[in-house]
Amino acid sequence: MHKDLAYVLLEEEAIQKRVKELGRQITRDYEGKELVLIGILKGAVVFFSDLIRHVELPMSMDFMAISSYGNATKSAGVVRILKDLDKDIVGKHIIIVEDIVDSGLTLSFLKDNLVSRGAASLRICALLDKPERRKVDIKADYQGFTIPDAFVVGYGLDYAERYRNLPYIGVLKPEIYTKD
Ligand code: IMP
Ligand code: MG
Repeated sequence: MHKDLAYVLLEEEAIQKRVKELGRQITRDYEGKELVLIGILKGAVVFFSDLIRHVELPMSMDFMAISSYGNATKSAGVVRILKDLDKDIVGKHIIIVEDIVDSGLTLSFLKDNLVSRGAASLRICALLDKPERRKVDIKADYQGFTIPDAFVVGYGLDYAERYRNLPYIGVLKPEIYTKD
């Protein structure tokens, strides 16, 4: 385990097993349809790349990058698009792939934004859900794990851009983010 972690919350094997199940569920639900999976940079990149290998359908991928103002561990709710989609999504079946639903502000912004562009359908697939911190009423259609209210890193999730490369998800020691 990485020395900056208090404990491992989700082991690599458990994550891989769940991601495979989510991919299979999406495969069943979208049979006969053509899908566009939209990954939200950068946190969802690791989850996204594992997930798509379990989606056995014709699909394309696109990416958006979002910034929410606030400090490193709490989002302030003001969302800005840093990188937009390459292609338009009119008439497409969309799944937004996100790392975590925390306050829900990012996803609620994204959902409204993408629906307004004329997608045929839109669902959300989020690896993690922290329901205790929700500020707006939003729920992922596909969800990996419900987790307690703790700041987690690894498997794409960062603190100050670090720890994204850990293959498991762990809870950061509080002294790591309270010292600065
Ligand atoms: P929301 O808008 O509050 O739902 O925040 C969503 C974004 O905040 C995620 O895409 C993450 O980038 C970040 N985030 C929220 N909770 C955590 C966490 O525990 N660890 C790392 N990043 C987090
Ligand atoms: Mg982040």
